[in-house]
Amino acid sequence: MPDITLTTLQSLKLKGEKITMLTCYDATFARAASQAGVEMLLVGDSLGMVLQGHDSTLPVTNADMAYHVASVKRGNQGALIVADLPFMAYATVPQALSNSAELMQAGAHMVKLEGGAWLVPTVQQLTERGIPVCVHMGLTPQSVNVLGGYKVQGRQEHQARQLQADALALEQAGAALLLLECVPSDLATQITQAAKVAVVGIGAGSGTDAQVLVLHDMLGLSLSGRVPKFVKNFMAGQPDIQSALAAYVRAVKDVTFPAPEHGFSA
Ligand code: KIV
Repeated sequence: MPDITLTTLQSLKLKGEKITMLTCYDATFARAASQAGVEMLLVGDSLGMVLQGHDSTLPVTNADMAYHVASVKRGNQGALIVADLPFMAYATVPQALSNSAELMQAGAHMVKLEGGAWLVPTVQQLTERGIPVCVHMGLTPQSVNVLGGYKVQGRQEHQARQLQADALALEQAGAALLLLECVPSDLATQITQAAKVAVVGIGAGSGTDAQVLVLHDMLGLSLSGRVPKFVKNFMAGQPDIQSALAAYVRAVKDVTFPAPEHGFSA
């Protein structure tokens, strides 16, 4: 696979070709996923749950993230590496700058932050200093204690309007990628159509430009036994992991995943 850049994402969006992303935390899976054609590897702070066994992403540190970014970089073959800034690593702009620098120096090509319009100054400063930013909106797991659980966001009219306005403001501030988690499919489609940058979805229907899943979920592995509605097990019917990764890429590209039952209504 040729090296994926922001320009590649932009041209895939313009062509209407769906873009694939998976979480990834180590060199072996980075090699396997990038060889399968996955365009973006997300070193997600979900590693706190799926690798470390915590019940939320809150205990993950920036040092944990940098360690896994460096591992993914060593196995990656051309995918764009996006790294999560963990809980409280971007509470202030100076923290965001120094923690992002650590992740970029470990091998990330872009950092991801969770939030809304309050991130505008952070996105501006990071972008101006050469760090592309993805903003994760909707269900933001680092705020699970404020949200009162892992719940669909944007179902109420005022919430939907707020999400749309925040997405626009963040794009204007320089966000290079947006990610919508657990929002009604129609709302995600509207935000995607309004955005100039690519929009990634998880539990956001098939109308977004890109799809992401947690690697362990799509391989049918679950520590908690609770499988979210938006997950599909791509190991089912496949002889090995490499084939499951290829099946995921095919399903996103031909828009057979996500199916309507993987999404949420308003
Ligand atoms: O940390 C993560 O894995 C994520 C995905 C759920 C999008 O942010």
